Amino acid sequence: MKSTTLHDSIFYLGDCISGAAHNLPDNSVDLIITDPPYGINGDKLHLHYNRDEKFVVEGYVEIPQEEYAAFSVNWIKEAERVLRPGGSIYIISGYTNLVDILNALRQTRLKEINHIIWKYNFGVFTRRKYVSSHYHILFYEKPGGRRTFNLESRYGLVEKSGDGRSCNNTDREDLWIINRENKPGRIKNKNELPFALLTKMIQYSSNEGDLVADFFLGGFSTAKVAIGLNRRAIGFEISERMYGTQIPEMAAITPGYLIPTLRSPVINGTRNLGKPWTEEDCTRLMERFVNLRAGGRNKKETIAALGEEFGRGRWAIEKALKKQQSR
Ligand SMILES: C[S@@+](CC[C@H](N)C(=O)[O-])C[C@H]1O[C@@H](n2cnc3c(N)ncnc32)[C@H](O)[C@@H]1O
Repeated sequence: MKSTTLHDSIFYLGDCISGAAHNLPDNSVDLIITDPPYGINGDKLHLHYNRDEKFVVEGYVEIPQEEYAAFSVNWIKEAERVLRPGGSIYIISGYTNLVDILNALRQTRLKEINHIIWKYNFGVFTRRKYVSSHYHILFYEKPGGRRTFNLESRYGLVEKSGDGRSCNNTDREDLWIINRENKPGRIKNKNELPFALLTKMIQYSSNEGDLVADFFLGGFSTAKVAIGLNRRAIGFEISERMYGTQIPEMAAITPGYLIPTLRSPVINGTRNLGKPWTEEDCTRLMERFVNLRAGGRNKKETIAALGEEFGRGRWAIEKALKKQQSR
């Protein structure tokens, strides 16, 4: 099977079921985020949000409706096998095939954590019924290990909104209102997931350096966000056209490019929180980083230790180190 290796990540051209069987070892993936084809031949959903069709790459491969149930069982069993114990999987599904995906999940040992509703804009226009404007996100784990869930990766527990509500709690409710992105003038798959949606799942459910898989790469959005957040990516796309269009885009991105766009959560116990960094602090931080790493600590342990030492949150330390390293 043809593959391309970029940024410590690997992308296969071909079917995800046989591709995973031949190339992905058991228990090797930390997180799976995937958006399988819809099984609706000739669907028109994309017309509502990708308005300029000339930028939509043809070659999106659909699964005939009568094969959808068996297809779902086959790829979800492979996903279960490759996920590490404690690893998480998010499957994005429309209503039409939800029953097949749920039935397939029930044939595995994967355990439901949440059933999330993603509400988006550009609902499909109707006159004689309600407007459909949501997808289902099935969030499951593979039992047997510790699941990564970075509670304060986006909002600290102490943060309150203007009306006194907990920002952390609100962000973790199981209704997500995230608009689809209009990407004018850019080549795309007909159903690309918004970066904000992918960022949220990746922040909560993985750490830097983790391996994130997408069995149906499409426009490679999962991979673009994973690499943008310093994770590694792996995945499959069966459409040669789609694959050929996306590989050069992947080659052009810089690992970690999305990190500066993340907000820094306010985490209690960080005594220097919000204080500006002095030149002296920055120099000392870099020296301490180099020393701790040379002493055998891994990056995660080093950053945790520096957080305590400097009285700042993990994100602030990472940001300051990045800045120093880019000088
Ligand atoms: C809904 S799209 C994925 C969109 C993607 N999440 C994004 O944000 O761009 C599903 C993709 O799966 C691909 N596909 C269909 N059958 C496949 C298979 N058996 N193995 C791998 N990819 C497949 C389709 O060509 C399509 O690009």
